[in-house]
Amino acid sequence: MNKPKISVIGLGFVGLTLAVVNAKENFETIGIDIDKEKIEKLRSGKPYFYEPKLKNYLNKSLKTKKIHFSDDLNQVLKTDISFITVGTPSTANGAIDLSYLKKVVVNLSKILKNKKSTHLIVVKSTVLPTTTLQMVSPVFKKIKNVRVVSNPEFLREGNAINDLEKPHLIVIGESNRKDGDTLEKYYKMFYKKIPEILRVDLTSAEMIKYTNNAFLATKISFINSIANICQKLPNVDVNKIAYAIGKDSRIGSEFLKAGPGFGGSCLPKDISALIEFTKKYDKTNKLFKAVKEVNIYQASQILQIIKEMNLFASNKTISILGLAFKANSDDVREAVSIRIVKHLIKKGMKIKVHDPMAMNNFQKIFGDKIIYCKTIPDCLKNSECCLILTEWNEYKNLKPLIFSKNMHKSNIIDARRILEPSDFSKLNFRAIGLGPQSVN
Ligand code: UDX
Repeated sequence: MNKPKISVIGLGFVGLTLAVVNAKENFETIGIDIDKEKIEKLRSGKPYFYEPKLKNYLNKSLKTKKIHFSDDLNQVLKTDISFITVGTPSTANGAIDLSYLKKVVVNLSKILKNKKSTHLIVVKSTVLPTTTLQMVSPVFKKIKNVRVVSNPEFLREGNAINDLEKPHLIVIGESNRKDGDTLEKYYKMFYKKIPEILRVDLTSAEMIKYTNNAFLATKISFINSIANICQKLPNVDVNKIAYAIGKDSRIGSEFLKAGPGFGGSCLPKDISALIEFTKKYDKTNKLFKAVKEVNIYQASQILQIIKEMNLFASNKTISILGLAFKANSDDVREAVSIRIVKHLIKKGMKIKVHDPMAMNNFQKIFGDKIIYCKTIPDCLKNSECCLILTEWNEYKNLKPLIFSKNMHKSNIIDARRILEPSDFSKLNFRAIGLGPQSVN
């Protein structure tokens, strides 16, 4: 097999990362998207969102001419493998919206109808079990040279390129062995040291993706439920509880960080889609709904702490450090900061915010309803409460002095558990999952 030429359809966070890393690995790559403005930006070497290493890889690949961008789907004809990475957002009731996928698949079938050489379509977009089998494959059934496989991704924002270069597993879903072999051969060219590859049927591959994300979401809602109890118990700290249970290899230490709840473009959307999907197969299931409800409730926990500190009032100023749904990202989709700020605005509080990267995206939502501060001291100035919502490195090293020097009253709420409580014992310090500190 010669080195296949790659097309990536849908240049969102997953698609763009995938396209750029393919080009960096010397695969001729075409990135396709209907958004002309996006294409223009990418052609001039400017990714439209932040992701570590992405800009660097993009510009290197533009220089070597291994990557091209186009808004014309017909470009797939120049390639051998098409990865579909279009968005599968939530509809109003939380179900999955497959309209982008459907459109791409139908258009691809028209374009690839007479292709002489074999073309492999790889469904990477997150889709519910049976979608590829029942919705994608049938469209190409009568087209001799087109094959369809499923290949879910497990990329984390802020770490996407590393995750792509060193995946913990590659899952290939196939309806016949030959199709999966083609993708496996491509991966053998892509990786110098090939990761473990699991070959399953189409629907199992899709089920693996949902199970993976649902389990991660469950772990977070679980530890947040524990945190909310710890918060009431004298001298108890959820971080110590999480550390201890994480040492049990049956549990594992990852994804046990209590905080303001999970956000982002994946976990909330996927758990909602799974709830809707599960209704068809298991009407008695309660777990996924509970995971979602615990997550939504976690924002109220933070508001409750503000209330307990007597700061929930229209004449008070509050400073929020961190708006992105997680550190190393400028993404505010489903970020808890949005829900909290909406509540505080309703209450009439004066809100000052700071984030190293996500302020532009936040401003698109809240406009001039809040105050955007370029520096941390600016944000803290004359405020009566500081709420930390994202675990940025620059917040981890903050010392008590910066709060006491700038704030009107040093009330601090660490919703990310990034500060050492004992350093802040002289200030009015509260944190998620941290019980009242008293002498035993
Ligand atoms: C997630 C999955 O990890 C990834 O495999 C999938 O492909 C896409 O969805 P991502 O949304 O980028 O990735 O972020 P992730 O690191 O999983 O964090 C999701 C949310 O959970 C963030 O808001 C994060 O702050 C929160 N989180 C994570 C916790 O509150 N506690 C934890 O212990 C871990």
